[in-house]
Amino acid sequence: MTSNTPANTYNTPIQIGPVTVNSRVMLAPMAGVTDVVFRSLVRQWAPESLICTEMISSNGIVYSKQWGNRILDKAPTDHPIAYQLAANRKEVLLEAALGIVKDKNPDTLDLNMGCPVKKITGNFEGCALMKEPDHAYELISAVAKEVDVPVTVKFRLGWDANSMNYKEFGQMCEAAGAKMVTLHARTRAQGYKPGCLWDAFGELKRAVNIPVIANGDIWGVEEARQVMSTYGVDGVMIGRGCQGEPWLLGDIDEALKTGVDPVEKSLPERLVLAYDHAARHCDYRGTDVGMREMRKHLTWYIKGFPGASGFRNQLTAVSSLEDIRLVFDEILKTAGVDEPLPVAV
Ligand SMILES: Cc1cc2nc3c(=O)[nH]c(=O)nc-3n(C[C@H](O)[C@H](O)[C@H](O)COP(=O)(O)O)c2cc1C
Repeated sequence: MTSNTPANTYNTPIQIGPVTVNSRVMLAPMAGVTDVVFRSLVRQWAPESLICTEMISSNGIVYSKQWGNRILDKAPTDHPIAYQLAANRKEVLLEAALGIVKDKNPDTLDLNMGCPVKKITGNFEGCALMKEPDHAYELISAVAKEVDVPVTVKFRLGWDANSMNYKEFGQMCEAAGAKMVTLHARTRAQGYKPGCLWDAFGELKRAVNIPVIANGDIWGVEEARQVMSTYGVDGVMIGRGCQGEPWLLGDIDEALKTGVDPVEKSLPERLVLAYDHAARHCDYRGTDVGMREMRKHLTWYIKGFPGASGFRNQLTAVSSLEDIRLVFDEILKTAGVDEPLPVAV
């Protein structure tokens, strides 16, 4: 299917302070998902996108001296990359930020001011900072002054429906020296419930002079086009859409740039890619931990296929690549595909 959207609308780079990124489609930070292996898969299809790490706890790094933690790992293909930090104390954030910039050379540093999880907000981090904009200003401005890479901020509409301060918060970020803001169009109270307030993207865009990235319930090309053309935002950030579909980011980027919509992957193609993901993840983490961490990904790869629910339990119990191959062969048989999974064993 070909779209009528002029390809050139999306073909210009985005400028994040001094950093130029040749794509308006970005990968959202997702704890437990956007690790170095997942990012390397996303990168295969999205060579130009800004891809974000998982949230990194500044306290964890600085107080617990976790400088060798795998969460900081970076692959040679990890460029352009944003490292995302959560923090509440300026000194700790600065130490973590400076250390990461020195060791990892990221393209941008993102500050998490949207995380709704109690463990984080209870520590006055993540979205709790939206209730303390003066303190958030101190954190952002301190990092923006001290580090050599552009600082960006990701936040929500506000704490709850009665305190939606995203416009003022975005203006505060800009005044503090942030070079881009990303709005997840839900309040903290909404968690991940359906009902993103996309109109807020336009409001925020009109309120600030730095790039605004739209995030929340953008699942494919149509929504990406709709959000960018309706609200005039500078880019889109995709999270859950990429779970079990690491190619989606690149598909959206390509479709926006060329006007040609992507071709859906077949079931065998998806399963081969899922198996490859599992093999790479086990190489990285070892089979025991690797398999445990892969199970959720495997169930995401088969989402939406007829009969998928029947195989979900089996996939959450796999403990080797061979287990995965056997379940995948069953899935293919059920779908009427006679050939076994075309992978080397
Ligand atoms: C499993 C999971 C982990 C997440 N971890 C983070 C995180 O570490 N940092 C962050 O800023 N947002 C995090 N988010 C929020 C996403 O970045 C994104 O804002 C949210 O999922 C909405 O986008 P989507 O509708 O495209 O998924 C997480 C979301 C999910 C589902």
